[in-house]
Amino acid sequence: MTTSRPEIEQRIEQLREELQKAGYAYYVLDNPLLEDVIYDQLYRELQELEKEYPYLITPESPTQRVGDRPIANFTSVEHHIPLYSLENAFNLEDLKQWENRWQKLVSTVEDPSYVCELKIDGSALALTYDNGILVRGATRGDGTTGEEITQNVRTIRSIPLKLNWQNPPSRVEVRGEAFLLLDEFKRLNLEREEKGEALLANPRNAAAGTLRQLDSSMVSERRLSFFAYTLHTPEKLKTQWDSLKLLEEIGFLVNPHRHLATSLEEVNLYYQRWESQRKSLTYLTDGVVVKLNNHALQDQLGFTVKFPRWAIALKYPAEEAPTIVKAITVNVGRTGAVTPMAVMEPVQLAGTTVQKATLHNQDRIKELDIRVGDTVIIRKAGEIIPEVVRVLTDLRPAESKPYQMPNDCPECGSLLVRPADEAVVRCVNSSCPAILKGSLIHWSSRDALDIGGLGEKIVELLIKHNLVQSIADLYHLKIEQIASLERMGTKSATNLITAIESSKKQPWYRVLYGLGIRYVGSVNAKLLVESFPTSQLLAQAKAEQLEQIHGIGSQIAHSVAQWFRVPANIDLLDRLAKVGLTLAKEITVNVPSIGALRGKTLVITGTLPTLTREKAKALIEENGGKVTDSLSAKTDYLVVGEKAGSKLEKAEKLKITLLSEAELLNICST
Ligand code: IVH
Repeated sequence: MTTSRPEIEQRIEQLREELQKAGYAYYVLDNPLLEDVIYDQLYRELQELEKEYPYLITPESPTQRVGDRPIANFTSVEHHIPLYSLENAFNLEDLKQWENRWQKLVSTVEDPSYVCELKIDGSALALTYDNGILVRGATRGDGTTGEEITQNVRTIRSIPLKLNWQNPPSRVEVRGEAFLLLDEFKRLNLEREEKGEALLANPRNAAAGTLRQLDSSMVSERRLSFFAYTLHTPEKLKTQWDSLKLLEEIGFLVNPHRHLATSLEEVNLYYQRWESQRKSLTYLTDGVVVKLNNHALQDQLGFTVKFPRWAIALKYPAEEAPTIVKAITVNVGRTGAVTPMAVMEPVQLAGTTVQKATLHNQDRIKELDIRVGDTVIIRKAGEIIPEVVRVLTDLRPAESKPYQMPNDCPECGSLLVRPADEAVVRCVNSSCPAILKGSLIHWSSRDALDIGGLGEKIVELLIKHNLVQSIADLYHLKIEQIASLERMGTKSATNLITAIESSKKQPWYRVLYGLGIRYVGSVNAKLLVESFPTSQLLAQAKAEQLEQIHGIGSQIAHSVAQWFRVPANIDLLDRLAKVGLTLAKEITVNVPSIGALRGKTLVITGTLPTLTREKAKALIEENGGKVTDSLSAKTDYLVVGEKAGSKLEKAEKLKITLLSEAELLNICST
């Protein structure tokens, strides 16, 4: 059956609408419309159609929430309307003073009602919609200049890619707070703990850090939420209350606990009520934002250098306490992440005794200038890990010196590494004892070398009895050594040795994945092996070359290149090679990896004069190239036949080299 173009377009449009509605019902209304399996099926159908007709893809399509590759860095954006911060108040008295101040500045006080909103503890975002379509998302930055993080913002499911607005103004700006639900925050930390990564200190930092990830697929995995609270439209609405209502109508999630109060006493009641009720919320709030409802009044009052005169943050007291730093230590996690910790005089905080606080990373230590002997204020952030908020420098002992993070790993002495785009310092020596356990568990996991019977308990025993200092040592273990361990017998020892032996047959990409190089998942490992079929070739590859591989972003490329620069890792590979592990892709006769198109990505468009698509594809692959469907800046050649469509146009824009069939045949025969 053939389907006509208009029919396809219509189907695509219907699918998008249905998926958009279902997403809205799920993420904004919290009232699912479709069952997951149905949603997934429709989503896949849309994906397939868009794959087949890429020129019908629009940026607001529900399939376009995650970018297809990480970006190199963020660009800065000017906020035409600055993002102000808020003055703080802590009680009714402060509020009354504020009211006195603003009342003196206006002639008439019409409709002096106040909108009370929960102050969400997250990270502010400014979203621009042109003709109803999301075109830009930016962080607050310093209020006048932020960072353009559109690709990341698009992954937030409660942010509409298209406004539900019949005739939208040419430009609308929406502001609000991106945040992590507490459950999501806990889930992330649990996952990080399992992976041995440094824990995220609190949901606010986690949200802010997530928004600044260069890889939007990572942002998407972290499931941020968003509450909208400000709407800028060319035609002003009368009140903040109306703005919130309209925000809701056009598709945003607006915090439902807002309240319109007619006096400060009423504001105070709301504040007191939420002081206890906020504990049962699924996200963190650190106060109430009180805003004058009437926009005309707001306009009369305007802004000071820093704050609006028409709004104030009524904050809840943070749970903080002073204590003294006795020592600063560093903790090496299982992936080598080094986290500095302050060891303190025990202190009572939010009902528990606290004596350790995270200092997060080197940058944070520098920023705080925290030193041993300092009196510090610590806070339990979101009742998770305590953190040091600030140092009372007036109480600092005269002889104190700035803290220096160690250059070498405290566990193994090898030089610590700080990846360029990260705040975390890492030990990258895979034989470091702190990392060893995690590495061995990862090595034996299902998608890696799949060594049945080598679980956490045995790994611990092997390390405890000094039988294994490196992954390679596994391959020198003797049955008697294992049989003599607690709760092991000759039979289980024999089984384990057999399992270890048979892991030597596992293919190179599994070995590569098993090495536990950061960001190298099993899919990436396969991609790397396709282009660099032996460990030697991969070891020599520069990050820039690795980035040429379709699907490999800069973060992965740098991580891999760096890993191969560590001598201990090269030693490990040598030892693994000696014991007989597979460190090269099995070369089949028809896959000359040294082919003329090695490492090249090609796209075919139109009808070729003699070759069928399949033949052309096979020919390219035989010569080491790769054929993909979608054209991008990473495509090396576009093979053009008759009736070439939009791909040709796109390729010309991207300045991609075009090949005729004859040219292709020519390259392949040389
Ligand atoms: S209004 C000029 N409303 O608090 C208007 N801010 O300390 C200023 N925040 O940067 C913002 N919830 O990130 C507003 N309902 C809310 C808020 C809120 C959280 C954050 C926002 C802002 C900071 C000001």
